[in-house]
Amino acid sequence: MKKPVLERPVLLDVQGITRLYGPAKGCEAIDFQLHAGEVLGIVGESGSGKSTLLRVLAGLEAPDAGQVLYRRQTDDAGAEEAELDLYAIGEARRRALLRLEWGLVHQNPRDGLRMGVSAGANIGERLMAQGQRHYGQLRATGQTWMRQVELDPGRIDDAPRTFSGGMQQRLQIARTLVTQPRLVFMDEPTGGLDVSVQARLLDMLRTLVRQLGLSVVLVTHDLAVARLLAHRLMVMRRGQVVETGLTDQILDDPQHEYTQLLVSSVLTP
Ligand SMILES: Nc1ncnc2c1ncn2[C@@H]1O[C@H](COP(=O)(O)OP(=O)(O)O)[C@@H](O)[C@H]1O
Ligand SMILES: [Mg+2]
Repeated sequence: MKKPVLERPVLLDVQGITRLYGPAKGCEAIDFQLHAGEVLGIVGESGSGKSTLLRVLAGLEAPDAGQVLYRRQTDDAGAEEAELDLYAIGEARRRALLRLEWGLVHQNPRDGLRMGVSAGANIGERLMAQGQRHYGQLRATGQTWMRQVELDPGRIDDAPRTFSGGMQQRLQIARTLVTQPRLVFMDEPTGGLDVSVQARLLDMLRTLVRQLGLSVVLVTHDLAVARLLAHRLMVMRRGQVVETGLTDQILDDPQHEYTQLLVSSVLTP
């Protein structure tokens, strides 16, 4: 049997991350560890600093203080460095990491897709970055992934700008996961969609996350999304962490006053 997630090796070690845009804006002194195969949900109201933190974690924005250490789980030690200090390596290597080993799902598919090129090219692009060149294989993989995210593979040559918002988000997820990323960041992956579309997407996402055993840092203000996807939650308020714990514990028995408010405002219509 697989080990419980919290007993598995640490993949991401986040120490004292601060990124401020002025007093009380951004995020401050954030510490946590993400274990391999774990889904960590970062929750909190709009403006609590979730997206800021995620941008720092994904290597997109340097922190004012603190470190992000990425520990690869690698069998052939020596072939790759086992630990990377994200902001000690250069920007080119950070970008390469995001392109080749990690994945990022944006809230708005516009930020994660190229709207003018075909769905197949959107999926194939990241595989090509990893060195795959065989056209037939890229196309077949594209179709397989479209099926996987419940898109009609017959639309592989259509550009995502002709897709609905829900379809675009599915395509963004396929594009992100096709490379089998070791670490995935998601910022409000079901945000901005109709409630019924959200529910289906969430269901699909949960199946994929479980099937692939993904390691995910998931940002969401939606506690229902957090409940369905996350093993553990970190609750943020005004840039700081107020409470961390197992998802059920936090949602069923919140200790901090702020978390209690957050949970009750969702439960009472
Ligand atoms: N690029 C930026 N420039 C200035 N202020 C920012 C910037 N990004 C975020 N903020 C501010 O930092 C705070 C946290 O924002 P954000 O991380 O987007 O929160 P969340 O994702 O939880 O809604 C907000 O007060 C926001 O206005
Ligand atoms: Mg945000």
